[in-house]
Amino acid sequence: MVYLRSVPAPAPGDRLSDNLVLERELVQGGMGSVWVARHEGLGSEVAVKILSGRLVDDDTAKKRFAREAAAAMEVQSPHVVQMLDYGISNDGVPFLVMELLQGEDLEVKLAKGPLPPREVVSIVKQIGQALHRAHERNILHRDIKPANVFLVPSDEFSGDAYFVKLLDFGFAKRLDRMTAPLTEEGMIVGTPQYMSPEQMLGGKLDPRSDLFSLGSIAFEAFTGRRAFAGKTLQEVAFAIQGLQMPSPTHVNPTLPRALDAWFAKACARDRDDRFASAREMVAALEKVFAVAAEPASIEAAPEGRVLPAGRSSWSGRIALLLLLVVAATAVAIFVARAQ
Ligand SMILES: Nc1ncnc2c1ncn2[C@@H]1O[C@H](COP(=O)(O)OP(=O)(O)O)[C@@H](O)[C@H]1O
Ligand SMILES: [Mg+2]
Repeated sequence: MVYLRSVPAPAPGDRLSDNLVLERELVQGGMGSVWVARHEGLGSEVAVKILSGRLVDDDTAKKRFAREAAAAMEVQSPHVVQMLDYGISNDGVPFLVMELLQGEDLEVKLAKGPLPPREVVSIVKQIGQALHRAHERNILHRDIKPANVFLVPSDEFSGDAYFVKLLDFGFAKRLDRMTAPLTEEGMIVGTPQYMSPEQMLGGKLDPRSDLFSLGSIAFEAFTGRRAFAGKTLQEVAFAIQGLQMPSPTHVNPTLPRALDAWFAKACARDRDDRFASAREMVAALEKVFAVAAEPASIEAAPEGRVLPAGRSSWSGRIALLLLLVVAATAVAIFVARAQ
């Protein structure tokens, strides 16, 4: 018989451990809740993710929680939220202690509309840097989506509007080490709207699956629309597996045309057609905007250069003609006087 303990829901003032006192709830999530807590040892506020009371007797959920902390620590990127501790509360509930981030997540941000292209490129680059580190260490994130990307407003000295932190390694998976699988092959984890076609089909994944999800986030940040949308799971699946590739410039014609080709490669159905690495994907995006950002006078250079040359040759011809007219008149006057 499975005995389910009833664990009281966390509340402000609860002491999780010797040092940690809950202050206020930030978000209620899928596997638990995220709180602001006071760390008395550090004398500062921290973020604490607490496993839902209904999952405390679920071994898989508990192991996944422990692995989330380990995976995030192992990536060692400044663009991954900093884990500070992992523990079990006095009530037997696992919790993760993290740095408390100021700002908002990308899902909240995008609910207000698309972002300026310069900001999108910077955000994609910083997520790409986190993924590059993770993939180098054979760790897949598997749940790249706007709610798992946190935007911390940057200081005025940085050229970027935000310092980006990747959150939630709860579904992360090691590709090499023989850890006992927490998900069966064929079992789908992740968020459907941002899943690669192979992830949606429950197939074997590699880093290019995370890159597909990053491409899908980029589309939404550039345009304010989901790349692969649908009212039902079936519709979303159809959009992801379907034949029609959405085009960012179709939604927003002021975006550079080259972005369409970038997106088509980022979210190619067949992973062999995608960018091979986060680095390659980010470099290609920067190139799209480096070209697009050149001032109009430079962009129009071939024509611009021809034009002045043409004009100068026309004005030269006119000047020569005038000179001839003047000379002819002078000759005529001279001849007339001479007569
Ligand atoms: N360290 C943090 N600082 C501030 N907010 C956070 C932090 N970690 C998570 N959050 C917020 O809580 C939400 C849920 O956290 P997440 O780790 O993604 O858990 P879940 O497994 O519930 O998706 C995030 O989308 C973000 O808005
Ligand atoms: Mg999350």
